[in-house]
Amino acid sequence: MTDADRCKAMTAEFEGVYLDYSRQQATTETIDKLFKLAEAAKLKEKIDKMFKGEKINTTENRSVLHVALRAPRDAVINSDGVNVVPEVWAVKDKIKQFSETFRSGSWVGATGKPLTNVVSVGIGGSFLGPLFVHTALQTDPEAAEAAKGRQLRFLANVDPVDVARSIKDLDPATTLVVVVSKTFTTAETMLNARTIKEWIVSSLGPQAVSKHMIAVSTNLKLVKEFGIDPNNAFAFWDWVGGRYSVCSAVGVLPLSLQYGFPIVQKFLEGASSIDNHVHTSSFEKNIPVLLGLLSVWNVSFLGYPARAILPYCQALEKLAPHIQQLSMESNGKGVSIDGVRLPFEAGEIDFGEPGTNGQHSFYQLIHQGRVIPCDFIGVIKSQQPVYLKGETVSNHDELMSNFFAQPDALAYGKTPEQLHSEKVPENLIPHKTFQGNRPSLSFLLSSLSAYEIGQLLSIYEHRIAVQGFIWGINSFDQWGVELGKSLASTVRKQLHASRMEGKPVEGFNPSSASLLTRFLAVKPST
Ligand code: F6P
Repeated sequence: MTDADRCKAMTAEFEGVYLDYSRQQATTETIDKLFKLAEAAKLKEKIDKMFKGEKINTTENRSVLHVALRAPRDAVINSDGVNVVPEVWAVKDKIKQFSETFRSGSWVGATGKPLTNVVSVGIGGSFLGPLFVHTALQTDPEAAEAAKGRQLRFLANVDPVDVARSIKDLDPATTLVVVVSKTFTTAETMLNARTIKEWIVSSLGPQAVSKHMIAVSTNLKLVKEFGIDPNNAFAFWDWVGGRYSVCSAVGVLPLSLQYGFPIVQKFLEGASSIDNHVHTSSFEKNIPVLLGLLSVWNVSFLGYPARAILPYCQALEKLAPHIQQLSMESNGKGVSIDGVRLPFEAGEIDFGEPGTNGQHSFYQLIHQGRVIPCDFIGVIKSQQPVYLKGETVSNHDELMSNFFAQPDALAYGKTPEQLHSEKVPENLIPHKTFQGNRPSLSFLLSSLSAYEIGQLLSIYEHRIAVQGFIWGINSFDQWGVELGKSLASTVRKQLHASRMEGKPVEGFNPSSASLLTRFLAVKPST
């Protein structure tokens, strides 16, 4: 850290996004070797194939084209020989028009009132990305102004408690429900959608559905069968992975209803700027490539399986939950793309909290327990600056003091010698020693408006893809979620048979049988 040339070399900048990775356990020679690894893994070719719409998601025989969702209108991106960009813009134009009608008050509900509340029903990728962006925009002054008098809520968990929370104090007469599901078959989302439909119908009558429920899906046939007017359905495509779908109607529709399409378009432009950067920049300057390589370095070479995402920005509080899905569903794989068991562990364990909250929670472990590579994310200009007269610094500077201090605390640590010189009692020396040499990287964003939120999203999406390309896995399928789903359907059948027909619990191991019997012994109150 005292080598100024090394520190300077370990930075990259693009359009105001500044990355400092000098606190990684790496030299410039390490980075050169990682570039050689990238070459050996054919990283450039793999990125090109993705942008060309080749079917790199081989187990599902699909292109991976979330970049097309934010491409400019005149771009040409083919899937199956067809330019998908016009279709993408046709849906965006429909969203723009619909959201304008909705926000102007011309779209009225069954009782003639304009609708000001939106409940977005969806789970996983049909929830976490939109929630992240919504949370980040909420306190941006321009977005907040545009959203005045409106509410956007999410209903994800099939837990009826989540239903109760999401509709608490809402009037069905002024609420629009957006059912968001790529497949329109996800058990949780469909039960929640039926539950909310019942809430609307019991209050406003069956004819209200057409005015109070709309949908986003790739499966427009099932949308129609559910009873939603196909004119009020917004399409996307199988070449958009669920966890990469926030830039499709999945995110664009609910966010446009809340903030207006122009703000959401800025978010898409931010994401697109990074798409262009990852596709065209040399690896030395390529932020997502550098990040992806460093993650592989930490996980596969240094053996650090986790990563903490630590935004010093409350508006980014839902970044870590989104990245958990994006990263762990993408790269949590045990075999190579060719189906050969990996001779190393791929994927990483992602978790995080905004600073400074995390400091008062799990940083103890990061400083003195396990080594967890950290992503520190700071913003130069606060969305909501406050300066109290007489205080030493503004509130944002107070926050950022921590942002600048923590990476050095991790990097340098504190030695027994330092503690001795501070006259720390002998018995406390081991407890107060910090080993140091703990890796982190720091991002500094110029501000956090819709554009930078899009950039940040796209940086993480591409970083995760880069990691998968280097590990040689398929980052775009998710077979690992299937087994639990199918076992749940066996349990569902048993619960039905026991509750409705008094059948005993059968066909389960002794542990599950006891648990189920205990559960079934108590009659539900409704
Ligand atoms: O958890 C599995 C998964 O398929 C995710 O990949 C996806 O984002 C989520 O379920 C929701 O799926 P859908 O949008 O089809 O309801």
